[in-house]
Amino acid sequence: MAQATSLPEPLTADDFLPFDRQQAKIGQLLFYDKILSGNRNIACSTCHHPEFGTSDGLSLGIGEGGVGLGPTRTAGTGDDRIKKRIPRNAPGLWNLGAKDLRVFFHDGRLSVAETFENGFNSPAEEWLPEGFNSILATQAIFPLVAQFEMAGNPKENEIAGAIHDRIDAAWPILAKRVRVIPEYGEMFVEAFDHINSPDQVTITEIANALAAFMALEWTSYDSPFDAYLSGEKEALTEAQKRGFLLFYGKANCAACHSGKLMSDQRFHALGLPPFGPGRTRRFDPMVRDVGRMGESDQLEDSYRFRTPMLRNVALTAPYGHNGAYRR
Ligand code: HEC
Ligand code: HEC
Repeated sequence: MAQATSLPEPLTADDFLPFDRQQAKIGQLLFYDKILSGNRNIACSTCHHPEFGTSDGLSLGIGEGGVGLGPTRTAGTGDDRIKKRIPRNAPGLWNLGAKDLRVFFHDGRLSVAETFENGFNSPAEEWLPEGFNSILATQAIFPLVAQFEMAGNPKENEIAGAIHDRIDAAWPILAKRVRVIPEYGEMFVEAFDHINSPDQVTITEIANALAAFMALEWTSYDSPFDAYLSGEKEALTEAQKRGFLLFYGKANCAACHSGKLMSDQRFHALGLPPFGPGRTRRFDPMVRDVGRMGESDQLEDSYRFRTPMLRNVALTAPYGHNGAYRR
């Protein structure tokens, strides 16, 4: 059997960061709680729901103000109809607690880097709070301040208003909303060693709790593919074995979907058909999504997107950064 690339080692528990179960319990409640959105009308789970493989079953997400859940969620009607779809497909949240992950989002706009003293290159630049337990936790604070995802429009609520001043102005307001609820306040005191009273809870503990939940809940390395990699020759059907051989052989999918996580964590331009409003930059003369270039400003990065990991990919249609492929 001809294999262009060597097979990855099996993914194991050692490949994941440790997270605290008590903190994850708080994260679970928060993940499903609309309190984290400016207008208290959307939760993380609206776009990342277990029923839809931790995504939403939509090509392009429908953010705050939308109605319903999953593929039947709509933009609303009449005056209440929301103004803009989310320009990108909501990815599934599998295995995001892996130690090796260093780039998040389709365009990699959050990465582990020395750019700022806080250890991350992120949209918050030097205003990023400190103390996150993982890149996953750092990611969790960004949907909160995205106008069309969770924050809402200026003048509608105090969160959206605060962001208008500076990106980090809204996080303390959200943290206060959560910690003044006695049940939440007490849980934080119990789960975090350095929190002695609820008023010490900041967005960092909230994000760390969300990360603990996502990482512990959606770790997955027990698929037939994983069993086969570990040496169980009967784990895959004959058809699956042929696909496996193509993937790691002639089709060379593993050139990019490489390693234990099935991603090189780099950016490639596959030329997906443009679809929807795109993450159009302010100065762009037309609707388009230039992908990685929007972040790096390097011409060679135009239309490049991050290679997604592929475990559980059967659960997270539609596919591609803009959901252009229905199944
Ligand atoms: C309105 C829908 C929506 C909501 C609400 C939402 N997300 Fe997302 N999420 C997305 C989309 C779309 C992306 C991809 C954005 C991009 O890459 O440009 C994303 C990306 C992510 C990623 C990055 C995954 C990766 O592989 O890089 C994580 C983690 C995540 N979301 C967690 C959360 C958490 C935690 C919350 C709540 C605090 C949340 N999301 C709320 C739609 C949503
Ligand atoms: C040159 C690098 C490269 C090669 C080779 C490659 N892929 Fe990908 N793959 C990507 C990138 C980058 C994306 C995301 C593209 C986008 O969203 O614009 C992607 C997306 C995907 C997706 C969609 C995942 C999702 O969650 O939306 C699947 C499935 C996939 N690839 C499977 C394959 C298979 C099967 C092969 C071999 C036939 C393959 N890829 C070869 C880089 C590659």
